[in-house]
Amino acid sequence: MSLDAEALRDSLALVASREPAITKRFYEILFERYPAARPLFSHNAPERQQKMLQDAIVAVVDHVEDASWLQETLSAMGAKHVEYGVTEEMYPWVGECLLATLAEIAKDAWTPRVERAWTDAYGAISGLMLAGAKRAAQ
Ligand code: HEM
Repeated sequence: MSLDAEALRDSLALVASREPAITKRFYEILFERYPAARPLFSHNAPERQQKMLQDAIVAVVDHVEDASWLQETLSAMGAKHVEYGVTEEMYPWVGECLLATLAEIAKDAWTPRVERAWTDAYGAISGLMLAGAKRAAQ
């Protein structure tokens, strides 16, 4: 997997320094655009969910050059998401809303290169998660 690690790291650092609660804003956008996703998030307090998602994004960006870590971690995470009731068609919802959140906070720093880096990264992440989900379903 060849991802633009530098653009991912720099943009995430910038966004996190401007808005520590990135994922709080992400959930607002997700539930506004895709209200059908809301009932799935009922097991944990919103603050805990926000922290778990933020930690997961940071961990993925930290390991973006470690293909075996990505493969193992994300396929296991994809399998767990089946149990949460997450289906394949929901992955583009989350990708769209995650990118919208980052773009909103990054403002002028949301350049075509950064947008491409996140589009490619989310495509790779969701591909590995879905592969794990499919293996778990067999
Ligand atoms: C980049 C892709 C994604 C990442 C990194 C991610 C990350 C996480 C993490 C870290 C957790 C905490 C539990 C665990 O480790 O399994 C979680 C839970 C969850 N995720 Fe995701 N997720 C992603 C995509 C999605 C998608 C597409 C949906 C669909 C709406 C979704 C819905 C959920 C739900 C419903 C839970 C459980 C919440 C609860 O227990 O209340 N996730 N996710």
